[in-house]
Order: sequence, then structure tokens, then C-alpha cells
Amino acid sequence: MKFVACPLVVRPQKLELPPYTLLSEFVTKANMTTPKTILITGASGLVGESLCATLMARGYSVRTLSRSGRGDYQWDVAAGQLDPHVLDGVDAVIHLAGESVAQRWTDAVKARILDSRVDSTRLLVDSILAQDKRPTYIAASGISYYGIDSERLLDESSGSGKGFLAEVTRQWEGAAQALTEPGVRTVFLRTGIVLSAKGGALAKMLTPFKLGVGGRIGDGQQKMSWISLPDLVSAYVFAVENVSVRGAVNAVAPEPVTNSKFTKTLGKVLGRPTVFPLSASLVKMLFGEMGRETVLSNLGVLPNSLNELGFEWQQAELETALKQTLS
Ligand SMILES: NC(=O)c1ccc[n+]([C@@H]2O[C@H](COP(=O)([O-])OP(=O)(O)OC[C@H]3O[C@@H](n4cnc5c(N)ncnc54)[C@H](OP(=O)(O)O)[C@@H]3O)[C@@H](O)[C@H]2O)c1
Repeated sequence: MKFVACPLVVRPQKLELPPYTLLSEFVTKANMTTPKTILITGASGLVGESLCATLMARGYSVRTLSRSGRGDYQWDVAAGQLDPHVLDGVDAVIHLAGESVAQRWTDAVKARILDSRVDSTRLLVDSILAQDKRPTYIAASGISYYGIDSERLLDESSGSGKGFLAEVTRQWEGAAQALTEPGVRTVFLRTGIVLSAKGGALAKMLTPFKLGVGGRIGDGQQKMSWISLPDLVSAYVFAVENVSVRGAVNAVAPEPVTNSKFTKTLGKVLGRPTVFPLSASLVKMLFGEMGRETVLSNLGVLPNSLNELGFEWQQAELETALKQTLS
């Protein structure tokens, strides 16, 4: 079996499997007799780097597909180009790639946010369908599927809502529906706000909060559904290793909080005051539609599927998650 180097993360020179212990643990946990090969798109991103490292530490052979020459394989989504051999011997595809949402949304940016996800999914789906042995397909999605604003708590049975990102997630997931009819196991991890000091929303909040000029956003009553990066990575591994994981799965911690509670907890963990609110009108002025659909959105989402399937949370509680993320 070929062990393909993942150049995007620090990886050991070779797999250092203790003769029996780690291998037997990995065979039992992953219910497999030979190391599985996983193809990851977007492996250079916040989630992908961590996931890549975790999968390799568990003994998987990880293959990366990137726009740049830093991946094991390259693709050009806009040109519809994908190496036909990229899926040879692959047991599961994890599709994370997509244009960043965290930028001001011009028409051109919105087109890239949508097309990078939908067109890349179509390319992968066509390749999967062309395989004799079709790999499992696991993809990132977002809780923005449920819209922008909901007074009631939402779970996987909730319908889709309004907004640009809701439309993006519908089309993103929809582009992979062609896999379900021929019976390919397909999973969409509808992800909440990922907590990491290295990137994403929390990293952007850290500077003002550390300077003592942080505070709630808008009236602070909007619900925030978050997940720690280690729990999200575990959810992907859980989806790879458990054949009962199928369809839409909310990747959010069990307790969504209001923005006020998030703000106070972050201030407490950092030992800083949080008395400078950022008004909704300023958010709209600075970030436009993107601000309205992200930091001002009000979505309390529950991880019912993960809980029912027996997923074990490492950081289910916000204060613990923030302490461990920022330690
Ligand atoms: N982080 C969050 O809070 C969060 C929340 C909800 C959903 N998600 C979703 O989860 C996925 C992973 O999130 P992340 O935070 O790791 O994302 P990220 O850090 O922005 O990384 C995404 C990766 O996608 C690839 N990419 C970027 N622009 C692209 C384009 N125009 N066309 C094709 N590929 C492109 C890049 O990989 P290469 O340069 O190697 O090609 C990039 O490293 C994303 O799809 C994101 O929307 C994330």
C-alpha cells in the first residue's frame, strides 16, 4: 500500500506503529484489517490541517487534493479538471474545500463561495460514480442551511431557511444527492462556529477582547451554535468509522449560547472586561450582508444525530472549550 505524503501538515517520516498495541486498537476502532485511504480536499485549511494530522495519527493513509502544488493531487475546479486517478484505492472522500465565507460579499465573491462548493462537489461525485468500488462521501456543510434567524431550537429534522448561505448549503448538499440513489454512504456535517485560536471567528475576536475592548454584538440575544475544533475533527473521524452515520448531521456542541453569554465567558477565560458592545448597525456597515448572515444570525442548533449515535464529546461546555482552545 502506498503511503502518500501529506505535505500540508507536520507528519511523521513514517508511521510509527508499536507492533501490536496501536495497530490492534486501530483495527478494532476502525473495524478494518488494512489501513484505509482517505482523500481530503481543503486539507490546507483550518479544519483540514487538524483532521489530516488526526487521521494519520490513527493510521490512515491520507491523500490531499488541492488547488496548489502543495497537495498530493491538484485540481482546477473552475476548469472542471481533476486527475482521473485521484480516487484509485480511496475508501472515503472528505470534502472540505470552498472559498472562504469570511470576507465582504461582492457579487464576484458570492459566485466564488457558491461555485467553489457546488462545482467541486459535482467533480467529485462524477469521479465517485465512475469507480467500481465507490468510496464513502463525507462533506462539510453549514448550519446556515437552517437560515438566519430562528426563535426555536433546530435539529436535523428542521427545514431549510432564508438567506444566501442557506441557498449555498442547499445547492452544496444537493450536488451530492446523485450518490445516494446508487447507495453510496453520504454524510453532510452541518457545522457551527468552529472554535480555534488559529483561525475562524474566535481568532478574529481575540485581539479586541485581549485589549479589553471586546463586547457583545448587537443586543447579544442572538444564539450562537459552536463546536470546538477537536470535537469537529472527532466528528469527521466518527463519520468515517461508523457506517450508521448517514445524511445530514449537525456538528455543533450540545449547548448553544447567546452572544451575551459567549462574550461574558470569553472575557472570563481571558480575564478581560467585555463592556464595549458592537452595534448591529456598525456590523452591517462594516461587513454588509456577510455580517447579517453570520455574526448577527440567531440559530440555536442541536446535535441530535451525533448524540443518538453515541458520539462522545470532549468539550461539550463552552467555558471548558474556550479554556482548552486558548491555553
Ligand atoms: N470554520 C468554520 O467555522 C466553519 C463553519 C461552518 C462550515 N465550515 C465549512 O467547513 C469547510 C472547512 O472549513 P475551514 O475553516 O477549514 O475552511 P478554510 O480554512 O477556509 O479552508 C478551506 C480550503 O478550501 C480550499 N479553497 C479555498 N478557496 C477555494 C476555492 N475558491 N476553490 C476551491 N477550493 C478552495 C483551500 O484549500 P487548497 O488551497 O488546498 O485548495 C482552503 O484551505 C469549509 O467548506 C467551510 O465552509 C467551516
